[in-house]
Amino acid sequence: MIRIGLLGCGRIGQVHARTLRAMDGARIVAVADAVADAAHALASATGAEVRSTEDILSAKDVDAVIIGTPTDTHFDQIRLASEGSKAIFCEKPVDMSVGNIRTLVEDIRKSGVAFFTAFNRRFDPNFAALQARLRDGEIGAIELIQITSRDPAPPPISYIESSGGIFRDMMIHDFDMARFLMGEEFSHLSAVGSCLVDPEIGKAGDVDTAAVTLTTASGRICTITNSRRAAYGYDQRIEVHGVKGMLRAENILETSVEVATEAGFRRAPTMHFFLERYEAAYAAEMKAFIDMLNGKDTAVPGIEDGLRAQILADAASRSRETGMPVALED
Ligand SMILES: NC(=O)c1ccc[n+]([C@@H]2O[C@H](COP(=O)([O-])OP(=O)(O)OC[C@H]3O[C@@H](n4cnc5c(N)ncnc54)[C@H](O)[C@@H]3O)[C@@H](O)[C@H]2O)c1
Repeated sequence: MIRIGLLGCGRIGQVHARTLRAMDGARIVAVADAVADAAHALASATGAEVRSTEDILSAKDVDAVIIGTPTDTHFDQIRLASEGSKAIFCEKPVDMSVGNIRTLVEDIRKSGVAFFTAFNRRFDPNFAALQARLRDGEIGAIELIQITSRDPAPPPISYIESSGGIFRDMMIHDFDMARFLMGEEFSHLSAVGSCLVDPEIGKAGDVDTAAVTLTTASGRICTITNSRRAAYGYDQRIEVHGVKGMLRAENILETSVEVATEAGFRRAPTMHFFLERYEAAYAAEMKAFIDMLNGKDTAVPGIEDGLRAQILADAASRSRETGMPVALED
C-alpha cells in the first residue's frame, strides 16, 4: 500500500483525492492546506489526517507526496520532499523559473526519488491512442502537427496577473504535447500574440490569443494556437500529418446525439472545461504514478519534461516580446 500525503486541497487536489479514493494500492494518509477548512473538508472526505505541509514532507509514514499547491510554492516543497526521500507527483508547471527547475533536476538526480510532472493530457485516452499509433508508424514519418487549445472563457484578472503569462500557464500543456507527439526535440520557435478577448488582460501585461510555430532540426513543423475564449466551449483538438496519412483527435462532446432538421445538423456542446474534459486523463495519470512506484515499467513525464516545456514557454514569451524567432539550445 503506497501511503500518500496530499499538499493543497483546492481544485486539482480534490480531483486527485477523488481518483485515489477509487484506487486500490494507494491511500491518502495525510492532507495539508494553508486554509484549515479546506484541509478538514478533504480529510473528512478521505479519512486522512490533517497535518502541516512540513510534517507531511518529513513524515516516516508517507511514501509519496502529491503537490497540488500554487506554483510558487512547488520549489520549496519539492526540495523538502526530495530531502525526505518521498516520491513526488507535482502539478504543472513545476516552477515558473527555468533556473529553479534546473536546480530541482539536480536535487532529484542526487536524491534518486521518483518524480512525475503532471502533464495529464499525455494520459487522455484519445491523445494517448493517437500518440501510440504515431509511434506504430501508421502514418509514417511526421511532417506537420497542429494543436488547438482554447478555453471557454478567460480566468479572473487576478489569476492572469500571477499566472506567468499565457505561454507558461496555458500553452505549457501544449508544449509538452508537442514534444510527446513529435518524439524529437525542437530547434527553433517563433511566437505571436494579441489581446483580442479582454483589454484588461493586456493591461495585466499578458496576451489572450497566441500562436507558436516550432520546428525540428529535420524540418518537421508543429503549430500551436491558444485562445482564452471560445464561444462554443472548451476546444481541444490535435491533428498530425505524415507521409502515409493523417491522425486526428476531435473534441469530446457532452453527448454524441446529433439532430438534423431542415436547418441543418446540430451536435452537443463540448465538455465544459478541463475538470470534465480531462477526468479520465487525471485518473489515468494517477494510476501511472502508482504503477511506477510499484515498479511497473510505465512511461511517465519526469522532471526533465517539466524543464523542457518551461524552456519552450520562456522562449515563446521572448519571441513574442521581441518579434524574433528563437533558436533553442539542445
Ligand atoms: N494539470 C492540470 O490540468 C491543472 C489544473 C488546474 C491547476 N493545476 C495546477 O495545480 C496547482 C494548484 O492549482 P489549483 O487550481 O488547484 O489551485 P487552488 O487555488 O484551487 O488550490 C490550491 C490550494 O493550495 C492551498 N495552499 C496554498 N499555499 C499552500 C501551502 N504552502 N501549503 C499547503 N497548501 C497551500 C490553497 O489554500 C488552496 O486550497 C497549480 O500549480 C496549477 O497550475 C493543474
